[in-house]
Amino acid sequence: MHARITGCGKYLPQRVLTNSDIEKMVDTSDEWIVTRTGIRERRIVGDDEATSTMAVAAGREALEVAGLSPSLLDMVILATNSPDRITPASAAMVQHALGAPKAAAFDAMSGCSGFIYALVTAYQFIATGAYKNILVVASEALTRVVNWQDRSTCVLFGDGAGAVVVQANEHATDMLSFVLGNDGSGADLLYVPGPCGKLSDTSRDGHYYLSMDGREVFRFAVNALAEASRQVIGAAGLNISDIGLFIPHQANARITQAAIKSLDIPSEKVFINLDRYGNLSAASPAVALCEAVEQRRLKEGDLVVLVAFGAGLSWAAVVLRWQPKA
Ligand code: UT7
Repeated sequence: MHARITGCGKYLPQRVLTNSDIEKMVDTSDEWIVTRTGIRERRIVGDDEATSTMAVAAGREALEVAGLSPSLLDMVILATNSPDRITPASAAMVQHALGAPKAAAFDAMSGCSGFIYALVTAYQFIATGAYKNILVVASEALTRVVNWQDRSTCVLFGDGAGAVVVQANEHATDMLSFVLGNDGSGADLLYVPGPCGKLSDTSRDGHYYLSMDGREVFRFAVNALAEASRQVIGAAGLNISDIGLFIPHQANARITQAAIKSLDIPSEKVFINLDRYGNLSAASPAVALCEAVEQRRLKEGDLVVLVAFGAGLSWAAVVLRWQPKA
């Protein structure tokens, strides 16, 4: 059975934290953050919100756009690196809040590549004929585990959620190719410890802060973005010039610029919302896809590449021929 994305949705929390707000918290400057990262502001999850509540809002919007009742969902996959609780999966809360009693539900954790991992997984369930209607959501509240005294990480991340509905389709599959990868030798370069790790690895004071070797991740990221893009476009039998829109993981403008330069992609073909949201981790490509559709940067039949990298160290990419209408 073929599969297609039939609706996108997103949710960004209301509270905006600008670079000048962060200037009052740590020794940094708007100038440093903008020139070294491209980020101007980010959203911060509200006290009464969480990864699951943002996922529900984004999921609802995607279901409305697709015109699909949640009661018909066969599966909910939630990509996140900041689940509400260690167990159960936050997808369980999302399934219940949406009113999807028939749906299987689980979380997918693959760093910032998680949305694309989850998307590819959804297509496999539809391709086998097992399921017809799947909600893939990516939602992050990583600012809850950012150390607000560490200027090298606290300026980077923001909160939010994006979602797509993937449905069985008789005519054609919109996903032309995919690439998924991981190099666990870099697992220590970007991580959030938890209470169940080795005692030497867990927090003594109840805080579990995100830790990152920025320079090493930067080096990996430029290569991962470029290589995954080359591979996925080649696997679809296409040339880079055939692609209408690139939606890279929004982590650092310098990473994106270096990767698109090595691929010889003109900047007008690259979607950017990093300046407004910072790094949304797994939610980044999902929110960007949703905004590209809203801004009419994607038209019926266009070829689009989604490509991401992140903790793991992981990478993932897909080529889609955008055709959300039946
Ligand atoms: O989605 C997952 C992935 N994560 C990423 O993609 C992050 C990848 N890495 C990066 O984006 C960059 O490495 C950072 C933005 C994290 C850092 O930029 P950088 O150009 O690699 O800076 P750096 O780590 O080499 O540090 C340069 C200087 C240092 O000072 P000294 O040692 O040269 O005196 C840092 O202490 O910049 C300093 N610095 C800051 N200064 C002002 C680091 N953070 C800040 C800051 N404000 N916020």
